[in-house]
Amino acid sequence: MNENEIKSLIRRALDMRLFSYTPYSHFNVGAALLAKNGEVYTGCNIENASYTPTNCAERTAFFKAVSEGVKEFKAIAIVGGEDGAKELDYCPPCGVCRQVMSEFCNDEFIVIIAKSEDEYKVYTLPEILPERFGPKDLLG
Ligand code: THU
Repeated sequence: MNENEIKSLIRRALDMRLFSYTPYSHFNVGAALLAKNGEVYTGCNIENASYTPTNCAERTAFFKAVSEGVKEFKAIAIVGGEDGAKELDYCPPCGVCRQVMSEFCNDEFIVIIAKSEDEYKVYTLPEILPERFGPKDLLG
């Protein structure tokens, strides 16, 4: 991915963060998932009064894509921070979201964790989830 592609994916994640539903944590996360077909699926976190049904931004993006028949992905950009924060810190994906990435993504999948369009870190999936359990372990 070139720099412009990375920046525009981060922009989509930043925009999506504004839709977060976070009356309990007030911590807003946005994600933008780039599919191999060129489409971008965005997601925000959606909390629940019962807490455990809360869905992270990354999983919202994956489930939107998969529910529309798209299952091959190139990269995801993730941004997060407290409501009203002037500057964002890095928001690394939680373990559950890493496992969902593992279900649908290969070793080349890129995870971009960003503070802004200009400040970001780029990882591959095996870098953030080594020795991952995935479809290959059950399906061969
Ligand atoms: N959250 C995400 O959306 N993605 C992550 O990877 C980390 C956590 C959300 C869940 C919850 O709504 C809030 O951030 C605080 O944990």
